[in-house]
Amino acid sequence: MWDERYGSPGRTWSGEPNPVLVEVAAQLSLGTALDVGCGEGADAVWLARRGWQATALDFSAEGLRVAAAAAQDAGVQVDWIRADAAQWHPPKTFDLVNVQYFHGPPDARRAVHRLAWQATEGTLLVVGHHPTHPGGPPDASKYGTTAILTALGVPPDAPGVATATRSRGDAVDAVVAVSRSGEQIHL
Ligand SMILES: C[S@@+](CC[C@H](N)C(=O)[O-])C[C@H]1O[C@@H](n2cnc3c(N)ncnc32)[C@H](O)[C@@H]1O
Repeated sequence: MWDERYGSPGRTWSGEPNPVLVEVAAQLSLGTALDVGCGEGADAVWLARRGWQATALDFSAEGLRVAAAAAQDAGVQVDWIRADAAQWHPPKTFDLVNVQYFHGPPDARRAVHRLAWQATEGTLLVVGHHPTHPGGPPDASKYGTTAILTALGVPPDAPGVATATRSRGDAVDAVVAVSRSGEQIHL
């Protein structure tokens, strides 16, 4: 399904970075970053342009093809990985891990969130459609901030946990940022 979408003429997504990533990255020192389920790579390319050492993963060859072309156009280096995120074992940890709108089946989603947290040395940012979001994926693929933290195995009152529910036009998103150092991210 994703290869078909990304293989169609024109971009599927806007090519702009996700706004919460821009907000969160502005609060962090530059370092290594991993984007999980990167799609057409807008977040990874934006991170690389800002000076992050970016790695990005998706299982869609077509998405990665579009993403690599965007990186080339922007003149930046991103390490692209084609893999099933639910089966992938991070070879190292990253200062920032970004998971935006990863809407696989619930089991895969939980597995990916756990892997993303394992891969996080600094800050993990997860954004997905909130259960009250009117369109998009089936209800079972939507989740609130509590469900995200449960998948990570992180208590909501742990140091360094920030959560928000964000509305953008008709869209409603659940946002979770967790920093291993306990530093508070402002959402
Ligand atoms: C809704 S798109 C979001 C893309 C990007 N994060 C963004 O915000 O523009 C979800 C992406 O997750 C990828 N994806 C879904 N399941 C995956 C899996 N098991 N392993 C790797 N990538 C996956 C899809 O190919 C797709 O690019």
